[in-house]
Amino acid sequence: MRTLSDILLLIQDFNSKNPFPSEPSELYEPCDYILTLGGKRIRPALLLMGYELFRDDVETALPAAWAVELFHNFSLMHDDIMDAAPLRRGMPTVHTRWSTTTGILSGDVMLIYAYRFLSEVREPTVLSSLLKTFNRVATEVCEGQQLDMNFETRGDVSIPEYLRMIELKTAVLLGGAMEMGALCAQANQADVHHLYHFGRTAGVAFQIQDDLLDTYGDPVKFGKQVGGDILQNKKTLLVLKTMEVASQTDQLELENWMATSSDNPAEKVAAVRAIFDRNNIPTLIDTEKKHFQAVAFQHLAAISAPEERKTVLRQTVEGLLGREY
Ligand code: IPE
Ligand code: IPE
Ligand code: MG
Ligand code: MG
Ligand code: MG
Repeated sequence: MRTLSDILLLIQDFNSKNPFPSEPSELYEPCDYILTLGGKRIRPALLLMGYELFRDDVETALPAAWAVELFHNFSLMHDDIMDAAPLRRGMPTVHTRWSTTTGILSGDVMLIYAYRFLSEVREPTVLSSLLKTFNRVATEVCEGQQLDMNFETRGDVSIPEYLRMIELKTAVLLGGAMEMGALCAQANQADVHHLYHFGRTAGVAFQIQDDLLDTYGDPVKFGKQVGGDILQNKKTLLVLKTMEVASQTDQLELENWMATSSDNPAEKVAAVRAIFDRNNIPTLIDTEKKHFQAVAFQHLAAISAPEERKTVLRQTVEGLLGREY
């Protein structure tokens, strides 16, 4: 069985052998830029690990895996415009280094390249099932992104609404990547189902961890602007939990901060974080995350592959849900 490092090397090698064209550089340089900044490459890794539950020749699934990573990077380029984010992977975002129009068009071309790589899958029935899954989750990501934006200006978002939003914007792509791994390996329907739900449920926990790091992460390790969600008035689980458990005074204070765009960003972040702190929000959030983690692993247990084949996937997902970046 391949380790996570083995899998990451395969992905890196595929990336080096399949570069973007060099011209026009204004279009492709930002694509190379965001990709060379790294990132965890977790979605293609999960796809290949899903494949390796059933078959050894993971190289076969590399074009599909790379398609998912390109889709992810396209969504990040556009997400950073939507979230007015200054930093990505420890470096300036594409729209701040170049321009918003560059971020839009370079993002678009990455999405098209995602489909180019996907269309390299040779087996027609596999290709057709991959396209169906990919189109489904890609559409859902857009739906989730829209809900995320809608919630910025709403004061009455419920926790179930938040959970549905993160399921769409983030979790389905992790689930979809694993499902695509199983589809490439031509696994049976029950295993495809459990692998998707393993990834999707772990994906909810993954986004909860992202929300937690957005306020509590170490700025150097996290690589994104700490406090960015607070400044954008994102209705994260931290905000919604506070509205559930805090005193009326704290609820009102939080509502006031969320209703304003402060001209002193550091002051706003510190004040909101202090409200979270005194209501023990990080611990409460961690409990929620662990709940989804436990449900996810039930799906992994239900997959008919030999237990020793599941070890890498289990360890990778455990590491991911306790990550610092
Ligand atoms: C960031 O995804 C966007 C979310 C869905 C939270 P990752 O945390 O996987 O970002 P990279 O690719 O490792 O930078
Ligand atoms: C992003 O969620 C999900 C997608 C890019 C589709 P976030 O906005 O929380 O992701 P980060 O924190 O910017 O990576
Ligand atoms: Mg963002
Ligand atoms: Mg966002
Ligand atoms: Mg985030």
